[in-house]
Amino acid sequence: MNLNLENKIIIVTGGSKGIGNGICKILAEEGAIPVIVGRTETDVLNAVQCIKDNGGRASYALAELNNPVDCKNAVQKVIKEFGRIDGLVNNAGVNDGVGLENGNYEDFISSLHKTLVHYYLMAHHALPQLKKSKGSILNIGSKTAMTGQGGTSGYAASNGGRNALTREWAVELLPYSIRVNAIIVSECYTPQYKNWIKKFPNPDEELKRIEDKIPLENRMTTMEEIGNTAVFLLSDRSSHTTGQLLFVDGGYVHLDRSL
Ligand SMILES: NC(=O)c1ccc[n+]([C@@H]2O[C@H](COP(=O)([O-])OP(=O)(O)OC[C@H]3O[C@@H](n4cnc5c(N)ncnc54)[C@H](OP(=O)(O)O)[C@@H]3O)[C@@H](O)[C@H]2O)c1
Repeated sequence: MNLNLENKIIIVTGGSKGIGNGICKILAEEGAIPVIVGRTETDVLNAVQCIKDNGGRASYALAELNNPVDCKNAVQKVIKEFGRIDGLVNNAGVNDGVGLENGNYEDFISSLHKTLVHYYLMAHHALPQLKKSKGSILNIGSKTAMTGQGGTSGYAASNGGRNALTREWAVELLPYSIRVNAIIVSECYTPQYKNWIKKFPNPDEELKRIEDKIPLENRMTTMEEIGNTAVFLLSDRSSHTTGQLLFVDGGYVHLDRSL
């Protein structure tokens, strides 16, 4: 199936690693031009090069997304380079463990900035271009908004916010035919996940324990599987799908717990 993504300019925040990188790779395979927005220059440049080495096209903008000025500048750089934006994937974020007991006001607010606030800023700055292109917005979210995790109030609240903004923007942007959807992830073995699991006394056992609870095939979701759903939601093949939270999680959140 041709997804009609050829030459489409799609911004992907945090696109040099993990889930964002999985999305960028699949976008490039579909002939789109992912623009990686990230803060670690070597990672960003390597990711762009890797896509080019595989015959794709890609670009980048360096930005610390916690900084509102960087968000604006990143979008401006994309407009200067390409003159258009066809899609925005809000993906960057971190599960930073700011809990109710161990946290404080400053850490909680900082957590919202790391995982939620830049979603708004990127969409806000990209909107004039998305209106022209009738582009699409995809927000990546986490199961923690639905299930909780414990000890991570800032991250869970941010993910609740991501889901709410998906519905809110889907409504606000109806007049422009801009579709807004979210992919909700549960367990995906990314660099961030690897760092988290390493903190357990027996990481391999802990990983196995988690995998055994994932209904479909007792395994983690791959970054490519999230990328495959992402390209569909960004493409006009999902032209009447908006305001949806799609769980790409092997049934983790919704299927029977006794399985
Ligand atoms: N992995 C999972 O199982 C899982 C589950 C549920 C939801 N998610 C969501 O998926 C998204 C991606 O997670 P991941 O596991 O792929 O993470 P990851 O492996 O840490 O990759 C995230 C990428 O985003 C970049 N980034 C993060 N914050 C940034 C900022 N403020 N400014 C610029 N770049 C920033 C990181 O750059 P640096 O390397 O420089 O930090 C990195 O390149 C997150 O929003 C997370 O909430 C993941």
